[in-house]
Amino acid sequence: MSQSTPPTAERTPSVDQLTLEEKASLTSGADFWTTKPLPRLGVPSIMMTDGPHGLRKQQGASDHLGLAASVPATCFPPAVALGGAFDPELAERVGVALGVESAANDVAVILGPGINIKRSPLCGRNFEYFSEDPLVAGVMGAGLVRGIQSQGVGASLKHFAANNQEHDRLRVSADVDPRPLREIYLRGFERIVKHTQPWTVLCAYNRVNGVYASEDPWLLTRVLRDEWGFEGVVVSDWGAVNDRVAGLPAGLDLEMPASGGRTDAQLVEAVLRGHLDEAALDVAAERLLRLVDRAQSRPAASGIDADAHHALAREVAGRSIVLLKNEGDLLPLDRRAAIAVIGAFAEQPRYQGAGSSLINPTRLEAALPELRRLSEGEVSYSPGFSLDGSGDAGSLRDQAVAAAAASEVAVVFLGLPAEQESEGFDREHIDLPAEQLELLDAVLAVNARTVVVLSNGGVVAVPFADRVPAIVEGWLLGQAGGGATADVLFGLVNPSAKLTETIPLRLQDNPSFGNFPGEFGHVRYGEGLLVGYRWYDAKQLAVAFPFGHGLSYTTFDYGRPTATVESTDLVIEFDLTNTGDVGGREVAQVYVSVPGSQVQRAPRELKGFASVQLGAGETRRVRVVVPRDELAYWDVRVDRWVVEGGGYVVAVGSSSRDLRGEATVTIEGDKQLQRLSLNSSVGELMGDPVAGPIVQQALAELMGGASDGDQEVPTFDVGMEKMLASFPVGRLVGFPGLPVTLEQIEGLIGLANLGR
Ligand code: BGC
Repeated sequence: MSQSTPPTAERTPSVDQLTLEEKASLTSGADFWTTKPLPRLGVPSIMMTDGPHGLRKQQGASDHLGLAASVPATCFPPAVALGGAFDPELAERVGVALGVESAANDVAVILGPGINIKRSPLCGRNFEYFSEDPLVAGVMGAGLVRGIQSQGVGASLKHFAANNQEHDRLRVSADVDPRPLREIYLRGFERIVKHTQPWTVLCAYNRVNGVYASEDPWLLTRVLRDEWGFEGVVVSDWGAVNDRVAGLPAGLDLEMPASGGRTDAQLVEAVLRGHLDEAALDVAAERLLRLVDRAQSRPAASGIDADAHHALAREVAGRSIVLLKNEGDLLPLDRRAAIAVIGAFAEQPRYQGAGSSLINPTRLEAALPELRRLSEGEVSYSPGFSLDGSGDAGSLRDQAVAAAAASEVAVVFLGLPAEQESEGFDREHIDLPAEQLELLDAVLAVNARTVVVLSNGGVVAVPFADRVPAIVEGWLLGQAGGGATADVLFGLVNPSAKLTETIPLRLQDNPSFGNFPGEFGHVRYGEGLLVGYRWYDAKQLAVAFPFGHGLSYTTFDYGRPTATVESTDLVIEFDLTNTGDVGGREVAQVYVSVPGSQVQRAPRELKGFASVQLGAGETRRVRVVVPRDELAYWDVRVDRWVVEGGGYVVAVGSSSRDLRGEATVTIEGDKQLQRLSLNSSVGELMGDPVAGPIVQQALAELMGGASDGDQEVPTFDVGMEKMLASFPVGRLVGFPGLPVTLEQIEGLIGLANLGR
């Protein structure tokens, strides 16, 4: 593919110039990673490849599970870590680097970001996803897409949609009710599509409410294109096509990888037999031509500055580390201290997960040499346990314990063995290996000044949290994670990341427990809207560390927030002060509650955040704008987003459970779209701005004990009013003692409907 040819209208053939067979051939892959060329018309083939936290371009043998080797590329922190920065600009810088590396390798589309919601901590691919919250996933994913596409390379937003587990992933139906589907599982996709127009969307393997994502006209056309305005190409996840003849008119444009011509022939035959409208094939082929054209228009690629990208990977890793606990300011470590580094992960880092996102890094930093490089004291090392089962467990432990006893501080690197988390299967529990927990106990018994550093792609239980003074959650930090860990431990970098997912006390507390991973091809999303912190808060459950939590080596003070409506947006402002004596960064979070809501709501939902760097003692006015759309819930009666009117409580804070101030603001509701009828309830009529006051007045009169001729009027009290509220208004006509006529009620409904 030529990289420097300028785009010209003449260069791209029009779809009318293609034969039926050529159109069919253009809409499926040539091999594992490339589309088919049309040499007769000068249409080249383009390459797409993984994603999402580095480029995985395979050279020799191809597979989609990262088995065969790929070209060296910078391995940035996977989404599990990057998300914690809560900083879309940082994500955008990573995206730019991904775009540069893709372009330099002649890759037209990189398969990422993955933004699926972490419904269960057991999902084997959670390390590839950002959060249990759709705002975080959407904002961070959008940053990556913007960065990638700024380099003339396409992103592929995946996996669309409701792909929240690996178990039976190619067949299972995610059975999700409309509100959680829209408000939790689709919301991040909606944001990214509307704000960034990814060149492609990768449709998921699974079914959504019984229909394969790869052949669902509702998902791929009505929602994605008609509602959100998607203009790009829908690509199948690798092997996701169940029935291409059904998929194509539903909105699946490109089947990947190749089907060896089998499904192309099916399309041709379906058109010839009149089972498939050729116009649908024209649309898909046209989209493919545009995608190839876009890829062709990329400016000439520059070279890759591997050092600069490695430095960026280190900076991002430093921004991704979450300081969970730091009792007595044990951290940062004194550089002159005698340190016992314990745990095999210090020397053999776990820095990415397994499967299709497996990067062949340009270099790899372990924490141990980096700690030694920065230390001015003595740093001993004992593996403590073995990652491959070799060595004698008892003597490995004894040696580590002796080293801990002889040092001022012990830094223990614990984590999940690589084979426990991968694409393709889910975890069975969230526990660290028992031998690691036993090692930690033995170390604690001889040295109370112990720091735990965790390496894990999915959440792990931390039963030691009360006994260990300092805990650093390192997730999987990419190729420069070792250096970044050393930077944080010695205080060269002040940690600032926050948890994008709750760390529960027990797996059993998780909302999906009992409904994961389903059976016989179905998984029921029984927790509905209450995913992640929404559930723990609604149930008032204790957690190990809450969503949004993350400490710093300094402290921050929040001034009293104000909440106002500017044009239509909700604007929150407050002063944020760094009250400590070192510079630091705070991710200030804005949560919204709607106390009197007429629909089910979580106690609070994240609606905005700001990552703010402050020098020691510095105060800054922080302004967070929450666009009105963010306040909407999905109204199943009218099948659209609706902003409810009323009082909204806005809380700002340092985590979902460390709220520092709140303000109340009145939001004007959307115009009601549902027309009232005789079957509407008294309560619904009372909620109407026009009819409501009239009904209230009538009730007040009744409660005042008005008499109605000869008839005895029932005594109205508040309990009675509540009971009456559920009555369809039409059924009250003629009710003994109720002086209301059909004409009066119809008049009232007519008045109310004028405003609807
Ligand atoms: C994964 C995708 C990946 C594709 C290509 C699939 O198995 O689900 O995330 O992009 O393979 O490797």
